[in-house]
Amino acid sequence: MGGGGIDESRCWGWLMQLAELTDPEQPWTRRAFSERHAQGRQWLAGRMRELGLLTSIDAAGNLIGRLPGSEPLPRTIMIGSHSDTVAGGGRFDGIAGVIAGLEVAAALQDGAARLRHTLEIVDFLAEEPNEFGLSCIGSRGMSGALDEDMLKRTNAAGVSLREGLTAVGASPAQHKAAVRGDIAAFFELHIEQGPVLEQERRDVGIVTHIVGIRRLAVTFAGQAAHAGTTPLGLRQDALLAAARFAIDLRQQLEEVRESQPFVIATVGEIHIAPNAPNVVPGEAKLTVDLRSDDSAALGAWTDRIRALAQDAAAANKVRMSECRVLSASEPATCAPALAAQLRAAARELGLEQRDIVSGAGHDAAFLARVAPAAMIFVPSRDGLSHCAQEWTAPAALGKGVAALFSAVRRFDAQSDPASGEA
Ligand code: GLV
Ligand code: MN
Ligand code: MN
Repeated sequence: MGGGGIDESRCWGWLMQLAELTDPEQPWTRRAFSERHAQGRQWLAGRMRELGLLTSIDAAGNLIGRLPGSEPLPRTIMIGSHSDTVAGGGRFDGIAGVIAGLEVAAALQDGAARLRHTLEIVDFLAEEPNEFGLSCIGSRGMSGALDEDMLKRTNAAGVSLREGLTAVGASPAQHKAAVRGDIAAFFELHIEQGPVLEQERRDVGIVTHIVGIRRLAVTFAGQAAHAGTTPLGLRQDALLAAARFAIDLRQQLEEVRESQPFVIATVGEIHIAPNAPNVVPGEAKLTVDLRSDDSAALGAWTDRIRALAQDAAAANKVRMSECRVLSASEPATCAPALAAQLRAAARELGLEQRDIVSGAGHDAAFLARVAPAAMIFVPSRDGLSHCAQEWTAPAALGKGVAALFSAVRRFDAQSDPASGEA
């Protein structure tokens, strides 16, 4: 197989350099479709080119670095994740997986080794929710899950996603050209973003399933009124309905906490109007983020959420004027054969490992629609993610990247064109 080992300090150095490309007033922020994100991509494309990768932006806006294989095999091995962040996020969510791909390419070059398969390193566009209200835009595009209605969505300034994609070098009119049927294996390394690996002192997690996510827009319509003169009994306070709804939802989730399937939901965004100190809130708009590894549970809980919102509205003499699915992704299963390669690689390196279900959404969930897809997690300190405290130590990241590198080489060496594997 050849190719030597990975260089932990080079990998860490790259990670920190890219992380430093942040909006200065709110570290660590590189929102998709922003100047800062473009700057990060320029940096990434520069590193790819230094490593001899051919860079391009596909029709769905994904940045791809390509290293031709030593044999004319028809399918490629792909490693990827995303370089966009949530606002005020961390230095690891997303870029750890892209940098891991760069390190794999660099480690191959160090050993003057080439894979038999062409290797592609991908920075997927806009994995996080963004101004167009749609996450995983690039991986949706690559897996055929981006449609015309999505392209018509607009941001607050009235710019359409179609225009937004064009501005970042994508070709939305040809977005179907981004759909891939030639990926032999897709690997994504990611931080766990939860506490399990750290608590159990495991080095890596091998992902078996990735949750599906539904985001619902719920609006309560009441009546704005004077805060001093409107008696309590006459108020139609939309914020109270929203608060009741959030508490009732939490109560219902507590009841299924220990049971299967896994279900979790969060009210993480709320806007009230007019949002003034001396006015009873006339409107409350919130977003529910609902997740499960079971498709039927997502459907059942969508109905349950609608019913809860109606009850909370009625109890506060307001109306539930909207309960709409903003976006939906289905739960995904990681490819058992690739997960087995990751387990074997981790075992060979003497790493402590466990299987794990991902409660976070990932580009791999979309890639799983068009290719065998697998994920490896590294621990997150204190289980924290989507916040500035996100942290994974250099050595802990290095172990994950080493396992990834080994699994990629195993797959490359073992897959046999005659069996349809390559
Ligand atoms: C992606 O970051 C998610 O929301 O799970
Ligand atoms: Mn994230
Ligand atoms: Mn991520």
